[in-house]
Amino acid sequence: MDFMGRDVVSIKDFSVEEIEHILNIAKKMAPLAGGKKKGNILEGKVLASLFYEPSTRTRLSFESAMLRLGGSTIGFAEPGGTSFVKGETIADTIRMAESYADVIVLRHPNEGAAKLASQFSSKPVINAGDGAGQHPTQTLLDLYTIKSEKKKIENLNIMMIGDMKYGRTVHSLSYALAIFGANLTFIAPSLIQMPQEIINNLKAMGNEPQLSTSLSENIQDADVLYVTRIQKERFPDEEEYLKVAGLYRINNALLRNAKKDLIIMHPLPRVDEIDPEVDDTPHAIYFKQAFNGVLIRMALLGLLLIKDFDGGGI
Ligand code: NCD
Repeated sequence: MDFMGRDVVSIKDFSVEEIEHILNIAKKMAPLAGGKKKGNILEGKVLASLFYEPSTRTRLSFESAMLRLGGSTIGFAEPGGTSFVKGETIADTIRMAESYADVIVLRHPNEGAAKLASQFSSKPVINAGDGAGQHPTQTLLDLYTIKSEKKKIENLNIMMIGDMKYGRTVHSLSYALAIFGANLTFIAPSLIQMPQEIINNLKAMGNEPQLSTSLSENIQDADVLYVTRIQKERFPDEEEYLKVAGLYRINNALLRNAKKDLIIMHPLPRVDEIDPEVDDTPHAIYFKQAFNGVLIRMALLGLLLIKDFDGGGI
């Protein structure tokens, strides 16, 4: 399995075996991610993080992962202070970044931006979210979280709720879960239900996702509930957004019918879709999930930048 120098644009870039390999290496990163040890395997390597859209977890956990492995980071958290405002194209910015860094992490509002960037860079480009497209490293950390909590993925009843239309996390994750043989249910108002194209692709992969508008009718069967934020910034107009804003709210009353070992995940940030009272229940694992992002990103950076990296020697 060779990861060295590869781009990570879509979760579909990886086979099941490759995903399993990344998850196994991520597990070995725990002592470093927790700050108990300091790593140096990426000493001398530079990560460029180019964020054209807001981010807290993705950007900080990538930077933390790089620093914990002994590397350095450069970049920007919003394009306002860059030549973007002077009209520079993404292609030119990427050409510059590849000459300053060994790996580029890109978040951009346009679907396909990471793919385009990868064509202008000889250094690996990692997609940290391209519009409503894909978010492959979020998917890796989501898979890691499900596997570590549930010990398996196959045949689990995994329900995703919220913005299936514009949410890139659920687009990436549903492909990966289909590869792993999970049972998928998408719960959303029809205005923001999963795009037909993705459903068709999932069916072509042998998966039969269920669609519903009601969480209370389905909650008792769920092993994993993956809650998402309505992606306000991607709605073409405010009126459309207001039709679906605040429709779902997970609270303890609703969870009374849930399995005891249901886990509730969320890529975060949350707005109002999970009542804070749920945070204190054993179901809530979204903060742990966010921490797992550091493990995954450490594993990935090691694999992309060091030949035959296997998580040893850290
Ligand atoms: C998500 C994103 O940016 O797609 N956040 C994240 O990376 N954890 C989800 C969201 O913004 O709702």
